[in-house]
Amino acid sequence: MAEIGKDIAKAKQLLDAGLLVAIPTETVYGLAGNALSPHAVAGIFEAKNRPSFDPLIIHTSSIEKVEAYVLDFPEVLKKLALKFWPGPLTLLLPRKNIIPDLVTSGLDRVAVRVPSHALTLELLESLDYPLAAPSANPFGYISPTTAQHVNAQLGERIPYILDGGSCQVGLESTIVGIENGDVTVYRLGGLDLSEIEGVVGPIKVRNHSSSNPQAPGLLESHYAPRKPFVLGDLEILVPQYLKQGKEIAVLSFQKYFDELAKDFQIQLSPAGDIREAAQCLFSSMRKLDESPAEVILTELMPEKGLGRAINDRLRRAAAQG
Ligand code: TXA
Ligand code: MG
Repeated sequence: MAEIGKDIAKAKQLLDAGLLVAIPTETVYGLAGNALSPHAVAGIFEAKNRPSFDPLIIHTSSIEKVEAYVLDFPEVLKKLALKFWPGPLTLLLPRKNIIPDLVTSGLDRVAVRVPSHALTLELLESLDYPLAAPSANPFGYISPTTAQHVNAQLGERIPYILDGGSCQVGLESTIVGIENGDVTVYRLGGLDLSEIEGVVGPIKVRNHSSSNPQAPGLLESHYAPRKPFVLGDLEILVPQYLKQGKEIAVLSFQKYFDELAKDFQIQLSPAGDIREAAQCLFSSMRKLDESPAEVILTELMPEKGLGRAINDRLRRAAAQG
C-alpha cells in the first residue's frame, strides 16, 4: 500500500525523481507526474491502465505559469481563468512543443487547470514543471474523492498519496475550449454552466461521445461501479426488484424507502441541495458498490445547475460497457 501523508517536500522529491504521487484537488484526487517528462507521463498511463489515446490535463499554480506551455491564451478564455481559477475549470489551449505528445495524445490543444486546494497549490508552486494528472482511479471506474479511495485501488502502484481530506466539489472539472469561434463545453463538471455564461454569454455544449471520440472521459460507459447500476424511476424500480427477490441498494437524491434497510440506501441530499449531492456522489456509489447488495438502483437529479453534470455521470455509470 502507498504511504499517506501531508508532506509536500516528500511529494516534491518523488515527483522530481520522475515518480508518481496522488494529489488532492477540490474536484477529485489526481494521479500526478511531471508533465514535461514523457517517462513520468507513460507511468501514469500504465498505473491507470489507461489507453494512450486519452489525453491528460496538466495542473499548475497560476495563469502566469500557463503562458510557458501554450502558444496563445484567447481573451475570452482568459476571462474565465481570471474569474474561476483556482477552481473546477479546465481550458483547452493551443500547446507549445514543450508539452510531450503523450500528454495530449498528439492533439494540438493541451488541457490546463489551476486546482483549488491549498496543499496541492503549495506543491505546484514549489515545482518548475506542471503536473499531468488524470483522476486517480483505474480506467473506467468511479473517480476517488478521498486518499483512502486512491489507496484501495492504486496503492500498490504508487509510493505516496498526499492527503487533503474529502474533495469539496466531488465532480471532475468542467472542460471548456473554443470551437469555430464559439466557447464550447466538452465535459460537464464541477463548474456550473450558468456561472460560465454569466461571464462570456451563451455557450455551446458538446458532451457526447459520438461526436467527440477523442475524449474517452466522455465514453458512453465510464465512471462505472462493478455491480449492475440501474437508472430509472425509483418508485417503480424498487418494488419491481424487491418482487424479484433481489438484494437491492438504492442511491436517491432525497427519497427514503421504509421497506429497505438503512444500510442499503443513501440519500445524496435529504434537504435537496445539489452541491451536497455532487460532493458525496462518487463516495456513495463506491459505498454501495462495496455493500452486499446485488444491484444498485438510482435516479436522475433535477436537470439544472450541477444536476446536469451529476446526471451525465449517472448515465455513463449506468451505460452497459
Ligand atoms: O477535475 C479534473 O479535471 C480531474 C482532476 C484530477 O484535475 N482530472 C480529470 O482528469 O478528470 P481525467 O484524465 O480523468 O479526465 C480528463 C478529460 C478526459 O476525458 C480527456 O479525454 C479530456 O479531459 N482531455 C484532456 N486533454 C484533452 C484535449 N487536449 N482535448 C480534448 N479533451 C481532452
Ligand atoms: Mg477520469
